[in-house]
Amino acid sequence: MTSQTNVISNDLIPNDLFPVIDALCAVSIDVARVIAKGPLGQSLAHQVGENSDGDGQKALDVLADEMFAKALKSTEVRWYASEEQEDAVLLNAAGKYALAIDPLDGSSNIDVNVSIGTIFSIYETKDGAEESFLRPAKEQIAGGYIVYGPATALVVTFGNGTMQFVLNPESGKFELAEKAMTIPQTSKEFAINASNYRHWTKPVRAYIDDCLAGVEGPREVNFNMRWVGSLVAETHRILTRGGIFLYPSDGRKGYEKGRLRMVYECAPIAFVIEQAQGRATDGSDPILNQAAETLHGRCPLVFGSAEKVDRVAAYHDLPE
Ligand code: AHG
Ligand code: MN
Ligand code: MN
Ligand code: MN
Repeated sequence: MTSQTNVISNDLIPNDLFPVIDALCAVSIDVARVIAKGPLGQSLAHQVGENSDGDGQKALDVLADEMFAKALKSTEVRWYASEEQEDAVLLNAAGKYALAIDPLDGSSNIDVNVSIGTIFSIYETKDGAEESFLRPAKEQIAGGYIVYGPATALVVTFGNGTMQFVLNPESGKFELAEKAMTIPQTSKEFAINASNYRHWTKPVRAYIDDCLAGVEGPREVNFNMRWVGSLVAETHRILTRGGIFLYPSDGRKGYEKGRLRMVYECAPIAFVIEQAQGRATDGSDPILNQAAETLHGRCPLVFGSAEKVDRVAAYHDLPE
């Protein structure tokens, strides 16, 4: 029997998945507490290693990974794939789920008190790890993130809309805040790391050139730009007030498919966005139709208000 903590209680969570979601929420409360102490607590931002994706590993990356893996061991999670582990780990051999996780997203923001998060993706497990995770993203049965910001919030989808639960500091529980998040269809905001301009392909440069020129098709639009450096923070802003996020492929070595990893970043974010009536592609094709070739395989990611993401796809049809 799992040691359920019941930090989240809501009939909108499928019964079978409840212990897994409850465990993720319980650990996230502990992670939020560690983050909230900042420099008063243990050092969280010093580099302790390098992960198999070549990312520097911060202390909190490794700590969060250990905390989530330990808690999920007593649930129905058979395979656990993490940004911070080279290979998938067998947690509960009798389990029925395969869970992929980015235990700490936005590590570059740990020591500057900016919102960071945890991203997770859940499939019905198969016997092997590879076949459990290297499969079309549309086979996910759950996907979402926890954002550790001014509020700690869980945004999750089980395939019937995207819900938001907020951690109530008074009750210590995640309480339903929004039953069906719907991304606004228009917005004047775009999010991209503009310092990579010289590395982008022509279609992406052409799209951003038009944004910077205040042109959107026949319309004049006075755009605004945002770039936080935490995928979960960008996603939460875009889900709430619309916009578009782009981490495209670029010419840098290792960035031929952008920076974001399919299994534990692109796939769950795409699931949450599409379930909120938004769109998520690799610049032209839907993320949910695609499968990672390797556990830490990368994928270009463009997501947000559907009309804006469709516009980017049209630029990709331009002659190179
Ligand atoms: P992580 O901290 O889990 O490695 O993810 C960081 C990702 C994502 O959160 C963010 O959108 C992106 O890296 C920022 O990339 P740049 O530092 O290249 O802007
Ligand atoms: Mn990382
Ligand atoms: Mn990440
Ligand atoms: Mn990470």
